[in-house]
Amino acid sequence: MLLAWYSPALFAVGALAAPRSSSGTMVTSRAPSGNRSVIIQMFEWTWDSVAAECTDFVGPAGYGFVQVSPPAEHIQGSQWWTDYQPVSYTLNSKRGNRSQFANMVSTCHSAGVKVIADTVFNHMAGVESGTGVGGSSFTHYNYPGIYQTQDFHHCGLEPGDDIVNYSNRLEVQTCELVNLADLATDTEYVRGRLATYANDLRSLGVDGFRLDAAKHIASGDLANILARVSGPFYVTQEVIFGAGEAVQPSEYIANGDIQEFRYTSELKNAFSGGGLSNLQDLESRGWVAGSQANVFVTNHDTERNGASLNANSPSNTYVTATIFSLAHPYGTPTILSSYFGFANTDAGAPNGGAGTCSGTGGANGWLCQHRWTAFSGMVAFRNTVGSAGITNWVSPQSQQIAFGRGSTGFVAINNADSSWTTTFATSLPAGAYCDVISGSANAGKCSGLSITVAGGSFSATVPARSAIAIHTGATGTGSGSGNGNGGSGTVAVIFEETATTALGENIYLVGSIPQLGAWAPESAILLSAATYPVWRVTVNIPAGTTFTYKFIRKETDGSVVWESDPNRELTMGSSGTQTVSNSWK
Ligand SMILES: *[C@@H]1O[C@H](CO)[C@@H](O)[C@H](O)[C@H]1NC(C)=O
Ligand SMILES: *[C@@H]1O[C@H](CO)[C@@H](O)[C@H](O)[C@H]1NC(C)=O
Ligand SMILES: *[C@@H]1O[C@H](CO)[C@@H](O)[C@H](O)[C@H]1NC(C)=O
Repeated sequence: MLLAWYSPALFAVGALAAPRSSSGTMVTSRAPSGNRSVIIQMFEWTWDSVAAECTDFVGPAGYGFVQVSPPAEHIQGSQWWTDYQPVSYTLNSKRGNRSQFANMVSTCHSAGVKVIADTVFNHMAGVESGTGVGGSSFTHYNYPGIYQTQDFHHCGLEPGDDIVNYSNRLEVQTCELVNLADLATDTEYVRGRLATYANDLRSLGVDGFRLDAAKHIASGDLANILARVSGPFYVTQEVIFGAGEAVQPSEYIANGDIQEFRYTSELKNAFSGGGLSNLQDLESRGWVAGSQANVFVTNHDTERNGASLNANSPSNTYVTATIFSLAHPYGTPTILSSYFGFANTDAGAPNGGAGTCSGTGGANGWLCQHRWTAFSGMVAFRNTVGSAGITNWVSPQSQQIAFGRGSTGFVAINNADSSWTTTFATSLPAGAYCDVISGSANAGKCSGLSITVAGGSFSATVPARSAIAIHTGATGTGSGSGNGNGGSGTVAVIFEETATTALGENIYLVGSIPQLGAWAPESAILLSAATYPVWRVTVNIPAGTTFTYKFIRKETDGSVVWESDPNRELTMGSSGTQTVSNSWK
């Protein structure tokens, strides 16, 4: 089954749709739409740790691709963004050396997993001079043996040549993105050099490229470079949509997939209160077509800059939105696998970059989202339903949706604060299924809930701020309790605080751990007043954690009133849901 992935026949299917360069080389192949299309962005993982995880979990779980950090030599520093400032194309980075990279690619291939390299074609370093992590000396516009001053754009449109005006195409594509030396991708030499780098990665078995800052490179320049790279390979391009901007995502379709950031914003808005009922049809939004979109609930930038949900989002919305993205047919989904501590927007990877997971969660500071029960369960769901369309869509109120995918899968998502009990019409065949959100199927037994379909329907209770999902690849019986929150390795804590407030005042939760804002009132979590005077919010907290916290009231003028001492304290169990009820003190 896995071997079929590497057969020429499968690539031939992609070849039909893919553009060809004038020389006839295939320049791009789309992500397959059937089995094993889900990508994990293994942000800041070392090559050795990616290799181990491909074997231990990623391959067996049915993921299609890992997307790894940029492999080229880069500037020194502990911050994560140093990886995005290349200084040479030697494969020496904080993630490992060339032989470790090559070993990672072949180990992942053996596990049935393809490898996408994050690739920086747009620029070199943003600092004036230095020595790279592999020992290469450089100055801003001089990388000995690689590039000199004439190989960079010097746009002359703004002070310091930095991009300011996104309405000006020439400025976006020839000035500097945050002072990063902007490669002259319109020149023969630079195009050839970038293609040589990409071909080197191809020679080591790399299956695809995520083109960083693609919007800042003219689409035609990218087409020229990609036509020089031996195919077939997968391409996804970072073209961040901005309303009214000169450069638009649609311009890049001929080169490969587009990272559709409008999807990311829409899911943030929908799950943060806007409602889910309008999410059925995502093909008529004016976004790129789903067949050309690469989509995610969050990536490494947006988990830090507030442009998306992230693992600290309240009320389990990060989990439920990810369940949605794996259930809905629009786009090729990427799951971010990252680490705690992104509240410090510069912090690099913990544990020396060695990604570590344990069971269905992370360890040593890593989140290992790709192992969370609901996420890996939904990857198998997506692999089972393939390209089947949406069936049996219902949305009794704006925060609740349920739908099938053909006759092989069915999901119900409840983003309301109360549980949803109903009878769902489904095209699934009669039988006993395991809910893959609360548990998994093993030898005909469900570790979570079991759901029985009979005569084209089933009855179930979807917990508040959670989901249920069943598919024909996970059948079984049993009455495992199921924790209902879907983010395994964490406990879903429902915080209730009885507090009377004046109009315009709000109650927030803040505490000693990153999930509770690390005592920073500006990072505190807003509680819902839907059941005033009881304020309520659900937060996922790592199992076994002990922490202190308080509620705070934010006044209409923005000032903060803290509860009186002492701090409240709580210790998490090993799984499930926990409710704590307090009153303002
Ligand atoms: C790469 O790193 C590994 C582990 O540190 C080391 O054993 C190996 O010699 C290195 N290879 C090269 C070519 O530097
Ligand atoms: C930005 O660029 C556009 C297009 O060149 C131009 O019309 C506009 O005046 C510029 N805005 C500013 C503030 O310079
Ligand atoms: C995906 O793989 C599963 C398990 O092998 C299989 O049952 C299913 O039919 C496949 N789906 C598609 C669309 O190929």
